[in-house]
Amino acid sequence: MDKISKQLLDFIEKSPTCFHAVENMKQELAENGFTELTENRKWEIEKGGSYYVTRNGSSLIAFSIPEGEMEGIRIMTGHSDSPCFKIKENPEIESEGHYVKLNVEKYGGMICAPWFDRPLSVAGRVIVRDPETKTLRPVLVNIDRDLLMIPSLAIHMNREANDGYKYNVQKDMLPLYGGSASKGSFLKLVAEAAGIPEDAVLGHDLFLYNRQKGCVWGASEEFLSSGRLDDLQCVFASLKGFLAGEKKRYMAVHCVLDNEEVGSGTKQGAASTFLYDTLIRVHESLGFSREDYLIHLADSFMVSADNAHAVHPNYGDKSDPVNRPCLNGGIVMKFNANQRYCTDGISAAIFRDICEKAGVPVQTFVNRSDMAGGSTLGNISNTRVALNTVDIGLPQLAMHSPYETAGVRDTEYLIKAAEVLFA
Ligand code: CO
Repeated sequence: MDKISKQLLDFIEKSPTCFHAVENMKQELAENGFTELTENRKWEIEKGGSYYVTRNGSSLIAFSIPEGEMEGIRIMTGHSDSPCFKIKENPEIESEGHYVKLNVEKYGGMICAPWFDRPLSVAGRVIVRDPETKTLRPVLVNIDRDLLMIPSLAIHMNREANDGYKYNVQKDMLPLYGGSASKGSFLKLVAEAAGIPEDAVLGHDLFLYNRQKGCVWGASEEFLSSGRLDDLQCVFASLKGFLAGEKKRYMAVHCVLDNEEVGSGTKQGAASTFLYDTLIRVHESLGFSREDYLIHLADSFMVSADNAHAVHPNYGDKSDPVNRPCLNGGIVMKFNANQRYCTDGISAAIFRDICEKAGVPVQTFVNRSDMAGGSTLGNISNTRVALNTVDIGLPQLAMHSPYETAGVRDTEYLIKAAEVLFA
């Protein structure tokens, strides 16, 4: 396996939830000399300094201030969350006097079928009361073993199983956790994995994840599959390019936001004030005026990086007649006349110029004109912090499956483009 694919798959494996993704990025930033800021303390930003701040433990903004004159701001954004199942309060349900299953609800719009008949586990965060200080604090948890399964109904009991099926989450998707003896043990198990007493847990945000590790495959090992490629592949590439870039001319910003999969309208999502608050605080701390901020913003550029649909080998008819991105064909620029994607003639030209300088290929994606497409965070973020923005992504198949597929070469293309963006 090539080095970049290995690093990417390691990062994704260590990041079963948005909280873990943010924690892993924090560690890497700290190792690279970045200083942590918190929103509830005064910031003292210096020219030439590098910092990061998080909100809710699930969104992160890292930035570097140039030593000399700031020519504007360069931002790459991605999202930390992926569609999955969230465990409800009072999670255990007894069934048939012999089983305990868990009560879950949908987070985002996943493909349900591939969640069946494969080992799953649980990760997320618990909020605990510290026995000494009596304060509340979050603790990340990953049970990290094969723990759950959502068994299919046998074909004999549903002869139409292969003729299309409408999944009812409350009935069909509840994972089996144990035999009747396991009753009352689930939150104990979670507390044990978090290394805390069960009665210390006052709240939780726990999610199911697919236990199947990422792999590289294909005749020439040209493909790569894993959970959460959307959007951790872009997040990983953005971070690598951000760290490698010189960051000499612009305020460089690596921005990863939660809740893209549920519309971004949360305190830490793209519709929140997080990016705006961070940029304003940096400007104030550096002694800039509000007008300086607006002048910088007018000279700024944002790359909204969220994975894109490659043309499918079995469903070529689902793609536009001529804009048909393929795996390993390069970074995909996304266009939509109704501005669900922000790309316009100007931002497309700027991004093509960046990719030319980086020596990486660019492809284009537009939905078939008779099909509604997905949305992303670029246009939502622009309603808070308005700047020239391009929507891009890396080409992938099986988007929102718990096991998605991409090309091994595309990650490096985005790293290189990010390096040029963060010159
Ligand atoms: Co996405």
